[in-house]
Amino acid sequence: MKARENWGSRLGFVMAAAGSAVGLGNIWRFPYTAGENGGGAFLIIYLGIIAIFGVSVLLAEIVLGRATQRNPVGAFGQLGGRIWRPAGLLGVITGFVILSFYVVVAGWTLAYLGLSLAGGLDSTDPDLLGAQFVALSGGIWAPLALAALFMALVGATVGGGITRGIERANRVLMPLLFLLLVGLAVYAMTLPGGGAGVAFLLQPDFSKISGATFTAALAQAFFSLSLGMGCMLTYGSYLRPHERLGVATGAIISLDVVAALLAGLAIMPVVFAFGVSPEAGPGLTFITLPAAFAAMPGGAIVGPAFFLLLSVAALTSAISILEPAISWLTDEHGWSRGRTVWVCASICLALGVPSSLSMGAAPGLQIAGMSFFNAMDFAATNVMMPVGALITAVFVGWFWGQGALEELSNTSGVAPIWARGWLLLLRFVAPPALVLILLQSTGLI
Ligand code: PFF
Repeated sequence: MKARENWGSRLGFVMAAAGSAVGLGNIWRFPYTAGENGGGAFLIIYLGIIAIFGVSVLLAEIVLGRATQRNPVGAFGQLGGRIWRPAGLLGVITGFVILSFYVVVAGWTLAYLGLSLAGGLDSTDPDLLGAQFVALSGGIWAPLALAALFMALVGATVGGGITRGIERANRVLMPLLFLLLVGLAVYAMTLPGGGAGVAFLLQPDFSKISGATFTAALAQAFFSLSLGMGCMLTYGSYLRPHERLGVATGAIISLDVVAALLAGLAIMPVVFAFGVSPEAGPGLTFITLPAAFAAMPGGAIVGPAFFLLLSVAALTSAISILEPAISWLTDEHGWSRGRTVWVCASICLALGVPSSLSMGAAPGLQIAGMSFFNAMDFAATNVMMPVGALITAVFVGWFWGQGALEELSNTSGVAPIWARGWLLLLRFVAPPALVLILLQSTGLI
């Protein structure tokens, strides 16, 4: 069998993992979720959840991958026996579900990049832009073709392998992404009236907090850090067995949090400076912002820069969503990478068709009263990822337990006291909190 690939360097791993984490979740989802949940109050809870659950589950996934040098199915099976293999398979399936709706949004992003470059978004009227968005996302062929185009980019990158495909793309695209993000945030904060947007994001209004705020923050945190579906596990499996993990994990978390904050700082000042509602929901990016871009000085540059940023962020994340399935089929079933990529990409795309059509062309495509698109988003983000994270925490904390502790403190450069704290979090804090939040998000309590 061909030797398994490794990252070219630890920095390459950090870039790729940060590329996975920083995506539509940070730039499209975070600002409107914070907007809908009270701004600053949400941010505080979000940061707390990242510090407690994000760090511990991220480290658990990376250690699991690095120790086993296997895909999610193989990793759980190797340490836990056959009975644990479905835990890895759940991750692979979750990836298919996420990617199916992720490519639809990414397709819209490509369209908006093209439109903004061609001057096709030149209106300050949110109603007009809203109609334009509905016409695009509610169409039949255009959104599907765009999703397919995006999927082809994903497939071509992943098909190149770990170092020559994924690592190389991230090494180029991540610096570009942060450059665009910083530039846009700095520009937005200088807009007259933009200070109110900064205040909205940073000043907590605690009256807005409810149980639902915690659920929303947890779902956002796991989605943003790509946790609970074996993605970070798979990326960790391409690390060499004794690679140090403490600094790398800290860097991935910091880059993800900074990216979300910068996205908030790039978007909220614009929203406030142009008097639109921060609670506009998913349409914020595609309706509200273009109206503001059309009205602002330099909008002809800022608009395309923003949609380029969004496309790049989506691409570096989407490639990581596909990789667990690829590594499973190539590791365990001996498939070639090329064939696996195209088979998996086609399945995701096929699953994306009803998601896309449910946005307007076929409104009857519903599951449990939600559009197919929203049902996929809900199933993956509010149920499958938290369940995956719960299983990972229980597996690493209780079943692997002592072995995990040794793995982390002996060969990863993490001080024993931190490693013990980590195990306690995985054993006693993460599982009950995840169960509670799952019960809440599924409406059982
Ligand atoms: N973290 C990505 C984002 O914030 O957009 C989404 C994501 C990537 C989710 C990879 C899950 C995953 F495995």
